[in-house]
Amino acid sequence: MSSSNETDLSFDEFDEVINPRSEETDFDRIVEASVNRRGFLGGTLAFGSFAMLNSTFLAGEAMAAGDRFAFSAIAANSEDTVTVPDGYTADVLVRWGDPLWSDATEFDGATRGNAASQARAFGDNIDGMDVFMDGDKTLLVVNNEYTNRSIIWGNKTVPEVKDADGTVTRKAYRDTDDDDVAKGKAAHGISIVEIAPKNGKWSIVKDSAYNRRITPDTELELSGPAAGHDLLKTQADPTGTRTLGTWNNCGNGKTPWGTYLTCEENFNGYFSSTEDVQDQKPVDLPPEFVRYGISDKDWGYGWARIDERFDISKHPNEPNRAGYVVEIDPRDPNSTPKKRTALGRFKHENAECVVNRDGRIVIYMGDDERGEFIYRFVSDGVYAPGAETDSLLDNGTLSVARFHDNGAGEWIELTPETTGMASQAEICVHARVAGSKVKATTMDRPEWIAANPNADEIYCALTNNKNRGIKPNKGGDLTPVGGPNPREANKYGQIVRWKPNGGDHTAPGFAWDLFVLAGNPTVHQDERAGSGNLNADNMFNSPDGLKFDSNGLLWVQTDGNYSNEGDFAGQGNNQMLAGDPVTGEIRRFLVGPKQCEVTGLTWSADRRAMFIGIQHPGERGDSHWPDGGDSVPRSAVITVTRKDGGLVG
Ligand code: FEO
Ligand code: CA
Ligand code: CA
Ligand code: CA
Repeated sequence: MSSSNETDLSFDEFDEVINPRSEETDFDRIVEASVNRRGFLGGTLAFGSFAMLNSTFLAGEAMAAGDRFAFSAIAANSEDTVTVPDGYTADVLVRWGDPLWSDATEFDGATRGNAASQARAFGDNIDGMDVFMDGDKTLLVVNNEYTNRSIIWGNKTVPEVKDADGTVTRKAYRDTDDDDVAKGKAAHGISIVEIAPKNGKWSIVKDSAYNRRITPDTELELSGPAAGHDLLKTQADPTGTRTLGTWNNCGNGKTPWGTYLTCEENFNGYFSSTEDVQDQKPVDLPPEFVRYGISDKDWGYGWARIDERFDISKHPNEPNRAGYVVEIDPRDPNSTPKKRTALGRFKHENAECVVNRDGRIVIYMGDDERGEFIYRFVSDGVYAPGAETDSLLDNGTLSVARFHDNGAGEWIELTPETTGMASQAEICVHARVAGSKVKATTMDRPEWIAANPNADEIYCALTNNKNRGIKPNKGGDLTPVGGPNPREANKYGQIVRWKPNGGDHTAPGFAWDLFVLAGNPTVHQDERAGSGNLNADNMFNSPDGLKFDSNGLLWVQTDGNYSNEGDFAGQGNNQMLAGDPVTGEIRRFLVGPKQCEVTGLTWSADRRAMFIGIQHPGERGDSHWPDGGDSVPRSAVITVTRKDGGLVG
């Protein structure tokens, strides 16, 4: 059975394929094992039975499909370079701090720039990205998720903070000044830059009319059910409809009408309080703030020092205006980005957009925190090329996923009726609370979600979860071992996938299984060895970025432990692999430099260049990538091409 025929199955037939009752399959066993931890961990199962786990989702003949990889796998390594297979080349396209305009200042490795130079330069810590065409112009839109203090302020002295026993517990950048803080702020957001091939290599086009930085200070509109609600009103914006900026932009999405969706993830880490709210006035920190991790201390960015908006004691509604999916039109440099509140407020990873068969827009989204949920938005209206699209992401139904141990799943709508909450606006602003009220399944940190272009099938990376089976999420929801989260204190992560019933992405039900359980078969013989499609040559940990290419290969990027020791021995630096959804085969394609995360992936329109994000090389001080010598490590977008000029996806 080919994958395209597979999509023609009725749900009952499909259910028969994934849950054959005539004999017990390995998939049945893992599900059963997940339900009964004693069986799972007690040695009654040979963990070799994880072998072929992935195959049960598909008919047996599919396993005979030929090799669809156009490259030979590479070995893991711990080098301070980008490694790609024979026949491929990796070049740096653009780095943190590279000016986007010719009158802007070149990056200075000694100072690492200042607020003024950074405002006109490419941002830091590259994450989600996509390419857009406007006529023959190629626009690259890239998220700049955050900054690492040790790098961006690495020219500043770092006093040690010691415990009573003299051990250094953390470092502080006490001599940073307001300009340093402003530089960090300006390195956040989105970089839009025209790119073009020049002398056989892609490079940025300085001074292009499309070039634009969207930062935490850019004016944005709030739209959808929560816009104008009291929870979103501030002194500066009594209407609750206009806000400044976007930050901690993690993964992304792309709509069929050519807009970019940028996803606000750890937005909470930027708020603090000049009053010690938590200690002195505990009642002032509402339970919703606790659920979203908003407190009197930020994560070291210091923004409240230069921008009062980030002081929650002065502006308690400001955090309610972040944590959304933001829609940007990259072709119009004067357009105002819109925060689409209908898609819910949580720690958004990415926003995978699917046009359902009936034309409705379906967006799948993960909330990346231990024990948080997977969401789905279905538009009320249908998409028609050329017709109005502005309301599609404002009016629709937000649901949350519940996974059952038997391989079935359901979407629970988040409405005042199902949640008991007062209004759709409150449901959107406090989506996590709404998800808890309908008993959504607590997941092992949902990262990117990707739709298979060849099948009605969605994949989600569950990166890891040290709290699985150990402690509840921040809302108090239990995190039992089971279903798609089958391992206690999950160190390695897994990729879950599901098929909507009847091939209808708006259907209330779906069927799920696991594509891969990451692990280390050279160190462990139990469930930590991972699934059968993992071996000493392709093992990895902490899947994060996911994207399908036009051929239907699934690209997997990792953000995990790069110690290459102990549980992670032999896995090397963070990397990018490709998986065949039909056969389950996985091959390593790229290894990043030291202490980086590989995240963000897109292709040129001719599919002869692949653009990949290398985030925070040297985040712990041990990298000089990409410029070598004793240079400052710089997050960068790289271009990967074939030496024969062939297609790369
Ligand atoms: Fe920005 Fe969940 O990664
Ligand atoms: Ca991520
Ligand atoms: Ca991650
Ligand atoms: Ca990262």
